[in-house]
Amino acid sequence: MTKSIAVLVGSLRKGAINLSLAHALEKLAEGKLKFHYVELGDLPLYNEDLWANPPAAVLRMKKEVSEADGILMLTPEYNRSYAGVLKNAMDWGSRPYGQSCWKNKPTAVTGASPGAIGAAVGQARLRNDLASLSTILMPGPEAYIQWKPEAYGADGSVTDENTRAFLQSFVDHFASFVEKLS
Ligand code: FNR
Repeated sequence: MTKSIAVLVGSLRKGAINLSLAHALEKLAEGKLKFHYVELGDLPLYNEDLWANPPAAVLRMKKEVSEADGILMLTPEYNRSYAGVLKNAMDWGSRPYGQSCWKNKPTAVTGASPGAIGAAVGQARLRNDLASLSTILMPGPEAYIQWKPEAYGADGSVTDENTRAFLQSFVDHFASFVEKLS
């Protein structure tokens, strides 16, 4: 059965390579996973006082994540860490105490950078923080993607054979992981 995936992209810019990576994975997952892109750009910065009248964007984000069978997070690497927009979403989603949208959700992490280590340090830090939120993290395969634009078509297809096989293996493992755990 097709599983629903809440996709959280840590870059807000339109031309983000991490959004392109998400589109490539979505295409490779067709028939197995249905991607739902969760808007993160309209979340205010975390402020405990706002729970008195919770922002609609926060409630929407939490609902969308809660309703999904699994979570896919894609992060750019910013100064050897992961994107602040993801941390902000993680903080909102973890509250009110006891009502976290992250707990026990099968979750995979990936990310792309033009740099040779493919956002590896940012991803490692994200994985560490996701563990503290009690998500069920997919241990592997890990996917540290050095972004090479020539490997991808404009329609989200992956034109480079080796890259396609690697990303296909990643989404196939993720689909099995979600199937087992959701
Ligand atoms: C970067 N970039 C970057 N790249 C990297 O490999 N390691 C790093 O530590 C950083 N640090 C960093 C900080 C800041 C503030 C910016 C804006 C950028 C480069 C980054 O990988 C590149 O801009 C990507 O294109 C960002 O991902 P999106 O937005 O294209 O998905």
